[in-house]
Amino acid sequence: KYMTAEPYKIKVVEHIGKTTKPERQEYLKEADYNVFKLKSDVVYIDCLTDSGTSAMSANQWSAMMLGDESYAGCSSFYKLEQSVQEVFNMPFLQPTHQGRAADYFVSQIYGKKGKYTFSNMHFITYLGHANVHGTIPIDIPVDEAFDSNAMACAFKGNIDIDRFKQLINEKGADNITAVIISLTCNNNGGQPMSMENLKAVHALTESNGIPIVLDCARIAENAYFIKQREPGYEDKTIKQITQELCSYCETAIMSAKKDALVNIGGLFITRNRDVFAEANQLALAFEGYITYGGLAGRDLEAIAVGLLEGCDEAYLEHRNAQVNYLGNRLKEKGVPIVEPIGGHGVYVNSVEFFPHIPADKNPSQRLVTALYEEAGVRAVAMIMSTTDHSVRSEKSLELDCMRIAIPRRAYTTNHLDVIANALGDIYQDRDTYGGMKRVDDDWNSALSLFTSKFELL
Ligand code: F0G
Repeated sequence: KYMTAEPYKIKVVEHIGKTTKPERQEYLKEADYNVFKLKSDVVYIDCLTDSGTSAMSANQWSAMMLGDESYAGCSSFYKLEQSVQEVFNMPFLQPTHQGRAADYFVSQIYGKKGKYTFSNMHFITYLGHANVHGTIPIDIPVDEAFDSNAMACAFKGNIDIDRFKQLINEKGADNITAVIISLTCNNNGGQPMSMENLKAVHALTESNGIPIVLDCARIAENAYFIKQREPGYEDKTIKQITQELCSYCETAIMSAKKDALVNIGGLFITRNRDVFAEANQLALAFEGYITYGGLAGRDLEAIAVGLLEGCDEAYLEHRNAQVNYLGNRLKEKGVPIVEPIGGHGVYVNSVEFFPHIPADKNPSQRLVTALYEEAGVRAVAMIMSTTDHSVRSEKSLELDCMRIAIPRRAYTTNHLDVIANALGDIYQDRDTYGGMKRVDDDWNSALSLFTSKFELL
């Protein structure tokens, strides 16, 4: 009962520099009030993303020394294939340089101009490709997905089955080229999907001949939620759950930068031989030879080890507890957060935080800049929204949030306390903050959040 601390000890440390508030005000101005443009050495605690920011283990670093850098047939590929078998139980593996390359493959293989892909919520790196390609993405999450106080909803990453049935009838199954499911659902707070819901989606897709693609960036975190929350899974191992999740899909893609605990890498995994052949061709043209897919042999080694460590229950239990700790500390201070607390970070409801700042005056962006200004903490503004325009007018399907993503195995409870205390203080003084004006003209691009410019109002 005493072993509640980190299930690891620290062997290597990385220095983080401190800055003063006037310095940070200056850095913000130079960065056009867009924290993506800050140099990382002026950031004290970096919660911009949980992607590629994990601390690797001693086992991963030592495996990297065994990296086989042969152009073709490197032994590191076969080690990775072995780990992929254990976690996904699927036969064909094409590595990619990171998740979005696998997204690109999906958009090419499963997309078709003028036809539809459905999702709980498509991630922006797929949406960018879909836009170029002409496939029409439609998000069909459950109603609770955008309710930031849906505390009783254990699986806000679920798909609305009735809406899915209705859309199959409306659009015709032949016009739906794939269902692409994000596990967990990043866009609405790292929220999990239940096995029951995936089974129901699968029953519908199977009878209609529609393939399922799973975006598995955070599949281990999703599996942990299933184990905690879904009856019948209490006694299963994480790998049994990930394997069952994958049993319902034709293809699984993964940004290994999340749950595989590495700094770079992606996976495209399928059970369909023809799809594999297409992925190989795309890899040859854009990534590299089939067995390395744009990665060094040492990167493949790090993923092979990290994928299994990411499914370790003691690690997942601590990871989940850390994210919950931050969320609960914020709640104690009255800070409005999205509930239930998600898998990879805490999402703050910026509209409730700054009720006096109108939506078009960028309350999330103001909150992100305030948090950096006060404490050197970098988070990110995220507007959760759906691509299902037909229902947009009926319901409010948008939530303006600040995501505080927690890098894996990198920060301690003390760091989380800094974030909670700083946000608590900003919340006390919330009336003193005004909104922000966006001053660039790059509004329509799906990825414009990286380049946008703001001014304080
Ligand atoms: N799918 C999901 C669900 C993601 O969250 C991401 C990346 C990707 C695909 C793309 O993977 O970055 O390896 O190319 N999400 C990061 C984030 C960027 O901060 O949430 P990638």
